[in-house]
Parts: sequence; C-alpha cells; structure tokens
Amino acid sequence: MKRTMTIALLMLMAIGQQAQGKKMLVTYFSWSNNTKALAEEIQRQTGADIYRIEPREAYTTDYNTLAYSIANAEKDAGARPALKDTLRTMNDYDIVFVGCPVWWFDALMIIHSFLECEDYGGFRGKTIVPFCTFFTATYQTLQDIVTATPEANHLDGLGLRGASTYSEATVKEWLDRIGISDIVAGIEAIDNGPLTIDNSVFDLQGRRVNVEAKGLYIRNGKKMLMK
Ligand SMILES: Cc1cc2nc3c(=O)[nH]c(=O)nc-3n(C[C@H](O)[C@H](O)[C@H](O)COP(=O)(O)O)c2cc1C
Repeated sequence: MKRTMTIALLMLMAIGQQAQGKKMLVTYFSWSNNTKALAEEIQRQTGADIYRIEPREAYTTDYNTLAYSIANAEKDAGARPALKDTLRTMNDYDIVFVGCPVWWFDALMIIHSFLECEDYGGFRGKTIVPFCTFFTATYQTLQDIVTATPEANHLDGLGLRGASTYSEATVKEWLDRIGISDIVAGIEAIDNGPLTIDNSVFDLQGRRVNVEAKGLYIRNGKKMLMK
C-alpha cells in the first residue's frame, strides 16, 4: 500500500513538471485598457506570463486625434510604428496569446510591428491564440493576427465587446473549447489507439489498469484523458 502511494506520488510529481512544460504568454496592446482587462482575465485563468506591447512614442490620449488623424493615417500607409521594447525571453514560450483592440476594422498597425519583429522569428512553431476587444464587431481583427503569422500554429480566437471587466465564465468556456484548460491542467488528450506493453496505464491511485472506461489515467508519467 505504502509502495503504491509512493508510485502515485512520483507520478503526480512528474505530471506537475509536464504541465509546466508548455509555457504560455499573454501579449496585448491596449489604449483605453479594455484589452488589458481581458488579457489579465486570460492570465488569471491560465497562469501565463503577461507582456504589454507599447509604441516607442505613446499615442495621444485624445480620441478624435487618435481615431481620425493618427490611426487611420497609419492604416492607410501600412505603417509599422516602432516598438518601445522587445521581450528577450520570447523564445521560452510555446503558446502566445496576442490581443488588441479593433482599430478601423482590423488589428492596429503596431500589432503588425510586433508580429513581424525580427527578434521573434515569425513565431515559427509556436501556437498563436488571437483575442480582441471592439465596440461594434471583430471584423478582420482575429484573422489579421492569423494571417500575419503564417509560420505559427493557431487556435480559435476570442473577440468581446470592450469593457472594464470580463465574465470569468465566458473566458473559461473559450479556454475549455480550444483545449487550453486541458493544457493548464497538464492533461494530454489522445486517440483511443491500442496500448503496447511499454505504455502501461495507471489510474490515479497508481494501480496498473486496462483502459476500458472514459476517464483520467497516467501513461509514461503523463496524464491522459480517455474520451
Ligand atoms: C482609433 C480607434 C479605432 C477604432 N475602430 C473601431 C472599429 O473599427 N470597430 C469597432 O468595433 N471598434 C473600434 N474602436 C473601439 C475599440 O476597438 C474598443 O473600444 C476597444 O475595446 C478598445 O480597447 P482598448 O481599451 O484596449 O484600447 C476603435 C477605437 C479606437 C481608439
């Protein structure tokens, strides 16, 4: 009994290390802090690190000047405004959330500066998860982020009407649907393929079992969800 408990404990420790294996980062630009609030809710539910994308030259706080002089001129020119800084640890992350407000129906131009930044290598091999906030609709914004990162993998994005707080349930439903919640929990979903002798499966009490029912098991030190 004591030995079984020790094995189970060792396995659970291995799972913890595995869950930490996928590093997540929430990146966002926000002018009036709606997207910041959504980014922080995502961070709260995932335990990801967070990074604010900022222009080298701060945007004016005057809406009319921003909207009708600056933002539309940047868009018309296809501008790439300079970034204030770059994140030196970007390479450490496997999953990168990228969020912004909708500006003139699209992701604003500084998001393109960020996504094209040489230091980030096109986010090659990483998984990009777009999100945005808007007043009327998401328009092209989520797709814009996907199109700008052709060498990355992508998960379905989330667009919500701009607000100062966001429903925990709405964000959770999205994270569940795109599989992020399972990753946070350290659960790996697998096909119901045949199991070999090297792939012995244990239940959460550390007993070797034949998998016949749906549920959570441990194989090779990893949690697996039999669906
Ligand atoms: C320059 C500018 C352009 C905008 N263009 C749009 C738009 O085309 N469609 C829309 O639904 N909302 C638009 N909005 C509203 C913002 O997308 C919305 O308020 C968002 O939640 C703001 O996010 P933030 O607080 O993170 O900056 C615009 C806002 C600004 C400042």
